Formats: sequence, C-alpha cells, structure tokens
Amino acid sequence: MCGIVGAVAQRNIVPVLIEGLRRLEYRGYDSCGVATVTAAGPQRVRSVSRVAELDEQVRTAHFEGVTGIAHTRWATHGAPTVNNAHPIFSRDALAIVHNGIIENYEALREMLRAKGYEFVSQTDTEVIAHLIHSLYKGDLFAAVREAVLQLAGAYAIGVVHKDQPHVVVGARAGSPLVVGYGEGEYFIASDALAIAGSANRVSYLEEGDVCEISLEGVRIADRAGNLVTRESRDVQAYGGYGDTVDLGPYRHYMQKEIFEQPRAISDTIPALDEAFDPVLFGENAAEVFEGIDSILILACGTSYYAGLTAKYWLETVAKIRTDVEIASEYRYRESVPNPRSLVVTISQSGETADTLAALKHAQSLGMEHTLAVCNVATSAMVRLTEFTFLTHAGREIGVASTKAFTTQLVGLFILAVTLGKLRGHVNAEQEAGYLKLLRHLPAALNGVLALEPQIIAWSEEFARKENALFLGRGLHYPIALEGALKLKEISYIHAEAYPAGELKHGPLALVTEAMPVVTVAPNDALLEKLKSNMQEVRARGGQLYVFADADTHITSEEGIHVIRMPEHYGLLSPILHVVPLQLLAYHTASARGTDVDKPRNLAKSVTVE
Ligand code: M6R
Repeated sequence: MCGIVGAVAQRNIVPVLIEGLRRLEYRGYDSCGVATVTAAGPQRVRSVSRVAELDEQVRTAHFEGVTGIAHTRWATHGAPTVNNAHPIFSRDALAIVHNGIIENYEALREMLRAKGYEFVSQTDTEVIAHLIHSLYKGDLFAAVREAVLQLAGAYAIGVVHKDQPHVVVGARAGSPLVVGYGEGEYFIASDALAIAGSANRVSYLEEGDVCEISLEGVRIADRAGNLVTRESRDVQAYGGYGDTVDLGPYRHYMQKEIFEQPRAISDTIPALDEAFDPVLFGENAAEVFEGIDSILILACGTSYYAGLTAKYWLETVAKIRTDVEIASEYRYRESVPNPRSLVVTISQSGETADTLAALKHAQSLGMEHTLAVCNVATSAMVRLTEFTFLTHAGREIGVASTKAFTTQLVGLFILAVTLGKLRGHVNAEQEAGYLKLLRHLPAALNGVLALEPQIIAWSEEFARKENALFLGRGLHYPIALEGALKLKEISYIHAEAYPAGELKHGPLALVTEAMPVVTVAPNDALLEKLKSNMQEVRARGGQLYVFADADTHITSEEGIHVIRMPEHYGLLSPILHVVPLQLLAYHTASARGTDVDKPRNLAKSVTVE
C-alpha cells in the first residue's frame, strides 16, 4: 500500500504534495511525510498523525521548495514511528519515498553495511536509499536504473538528490506509478487522482519503467534501459475529486456512502433495453458466455462476500456451477484449472494485490475467459480482464465498503440472470420479474434507510459490548459475514458470523446473556429453520437482535428485539438486509468514538500481499 507523490516546478510545490497525500490517504494513513530538495541537501517533515496534521506542521515551519516528494504510509517493515516514516534519507544527500515490499532487503542490507552504510530505520526502504546512493555518479536517472535491477519484490519509488535539485526520479514494478504533465511542471504519483488539477495529462508507467521528471520535461526508460514513450491521457478520464469530498449533512463518509446506495444502485442498473444482455459485459460476451460451463469467483474481504452471495444466484438462476475463492488462498494453492470456466474477479478498487495476482495465476493456468466486476474504470483489473461490468458506486472514501458492495451485488445478479437466459433457465416472464425487482430496488432501499433511528437506539447498547455473533442462513449467510466484518473493522468489537444451523456445532458455547446475537431473518424458505435456531439462542439466555421481514411476523418479546424490515424482497433480499447491518456498525463505532472512515491498521486499497 502507501501513496507516493512527487513534483518538479518553479513554484512552491509543498501545498500540491500535501493535497496529493490527502487524496492518497485511502492507501494507508499510519504516518506521512514530505521532503523538498536544495543544494544543501534534502529537508523533511514527518508525522505519525494524519495528513491534516502534517499540513499544520509545514505551514507552521514555512516549509517550502520547488522540487519534492511525499508519502503516506501503511507500515509493513517497522512500526509506524516518525523514524520509520518516509521520506527516508541516505547520508543527508538523497531522499526516497517507497510503496511496496523489497523481498531481498536483508541480503542488500548486509551488502550495504559492508560498504559502510548505517541503518537508522527498520524499513526495507532504507536499503533502496543507500543502494541508489552507492551507485550515484552524478546522474540520478542512471543510478536508479542500475539499482532497481537488484531489487526483488514490489516497488514504486520517488527519489531526489541534493546534486540535482530540479529532478525527481520514479520507478515501478508491481506497484502503480503515473507521470503527470502540467504547464512547465511535472509530477509522479501512485494514482492520477493525487495530481488531478495540477497535471493536465497522465501516463501510466509499465512494469520495470524508470522515469525522470525535471524542468526540461520527462524521460522514461523501460526495464531494458531503452528510452520509451508511454501513451498519455487527459486527467479528466480519471474522474473528478472535488464533489465527492463534500460530506454534506453527514458526520462521516461511511454514513454518506450508506445513504448514497439508492443513487449508486440506480446508476448501476443498465438501461431497460440492455438489461440482461451479454453485451453489457463486452462486445463478444454472448459467444464466450455460451461456451463456459462453470464460474470461478476470486476476491478479498467484502468483495469476497459479494462473491459468496453471487454463488447462490448463479447456481439458482443460471444453474451454473460456481466456486468462490479467497484470492490470497487461490493464488498459492494447487488447483485443477478448467479452461471452460469464466473467472470473475470482484473488486471495488481494481488494484487489490491479492486479487490481481489470483487473476494472473488463473490466466497462467490457461483460464483465458475473465470478467472484472469493478468500480474503477481505469484500474489494473479492468485492463487485465477480457470483460468488465462497471459498478457506478462513485468514489468510496470510507475504508469500510458499503455502496461498493451493494452495487457489486447488483452487477452479479445481472450476470446470473444474463447467464440464466442464455442457458435457457430464465423465461420472459421471469426476466420481467427480475427486472421489476431491480428497478424498484432504490425505492425499497430508501424504506430500509428510514429505519436509522431504531438502529441508533440499538447501537447505544452494542457500543458497550465487546463481542457479537451474527447469524444468517442460505443466501443471507454471506450477509451475516459482511455484517460481522463491518462491525469489527470500524468499532473494534469482536464479531463472528455463522450459518445459523452451525451454531449447535460449537459457537453456541459462547452464548450467554452478555452475548448479542444479530439475526438476519428474511421470509424465505429457511425461515422456520431459522426460528428454531433463534430458540436455541434464547434457551441459553442469549439476546437476539433480529432484522425481520415484515411478513415473517416475528415480534419483540423477552430477549428478542426486532426491527421490522419491508416485506420479503425475493432473490434481491440480501441487498436490503445488508443495509441495517452497515448502519448498526456505523452507529456503534460512532458511539464508541472510533475513527470510522479510517479505522486503525487498515487502508482502503490493499496493494500489497
Ligand atoms: O478493493 P477491493 O474490493 O478489492 O478490496 C477488497 C477488500 O480489501 C475490501 O473489500 C475490504 O474488506 C473492505 N474495505 C471491508 O469493508
């Protein structure tokens, strides 16, 4: 993870670097720093607080410069201390910012120690700083090109040297880096978003590229050392930034994003005449979809739970065998590849390292038919896959995924019905029914969002708990999993989810009067079974907090607290049922006073394995 930004200009560039960091905080936020370079050497300001605090520090210190690099960190090697915060120096001559992990850093450190370099941080980054310093002979571009040949692992770096005070050199392999072109000034950044507004055009560097930005312009060398050009695009293609950062009447982005879901879903549902048409996924999708005999879904975290939900839809509606795998497991295990399988990756960011690696692994095993369900049109995942379904959630800033999840579910449901039609399992009447359900979904969601005051009342009790169980069955088991993940990641309450039928096989031992048991209770075929599981909890004194469809007729009584949902929403019910769980997690975390949008130890985009 980590975000890097660098700039060369003829004006004070520090405010641009700080704004870039603010926009990159989604990549990690446990420390940050900025360095500018002068002929006397680089100077830096670092903080273990947020970018807003770094901004205060640089303003107070009147910290300025025309050439600089900056970094927001998600710690891998070394604790999040000021000493480990980037930029990292080598002998007060060179400064570096780094995103990624250097796998051979121990060997390099020994080699550099033997040459007399002292290490003052616990970071793997310091080896790159000293390595480049040791190779520097008056040309930073050349020294970096030589140094990166010795690095194993993933990196994107930005480097400055006191002897070239109007030069920043960048390099990438495994971690993204873009070059930005402004009016007589140039930039590097982990994400085009960081420099949108200052740069007019951006180019994505390719694997192994090294770039030099200076007042004269930009030079890019490929891994073999040849000077190359990389296609540049209008920065507007990467979307604006300004409007999405306005909180409006909300206290946190997560709350805002929960309430944006009706709009996000409505934007994601295709036009009427295109609904359930394979062309939605790509030009020749019909031909390819007809030839597949199974689905393999690869994803992480919340996106993985979207995949688990989709399995029920794909097997029920399209009658197609579906396997769902956690990307970080799949990429390293021996599996039996099926070239007739459609590999579906699900990702909000489209940059999650484990999901990208799992996708490449599947491709290397001969599974060439791939589809990304993704929220970022310009992401690496979209570029790597044959087909795409773009969710239109809009920029999601809160680390906890909400509108990305529900729009992923919409995309996956559309995939299930599209495949069902192609495979002859969905007739015109059923298709019309599914379309009606989809079209009414934003209005139905508004009905669920109106339950917020009741959920706030519950959250005050939850805020005093340290554990919670979540139960669901069938199609709603993944929703229970997602509810538990939401609660734990932002409120730090330990939460686990189980298929309700599994309770008696172990977790029931945890149930006492102190244990809140959140139950997802749709009025589906498993309702009576679920009611029996609820009784098992009540018999042990457990407190049930039930989100029950109105037509279940489950009512509040001793030990059973009920919030009535709208009537059962058929196959799309999971999309309604996850929303109160998002709100419960949000208000519980809010009541506990945690940093809801930036929970501890996490990052929005997980670009390291
Ligand atoms: O960007 P992705 O959807 O690939 O991210 C995958 C997970 O890191 C992500 O869903 C994570 O679990 C959520 N932020 C949790 O709310």
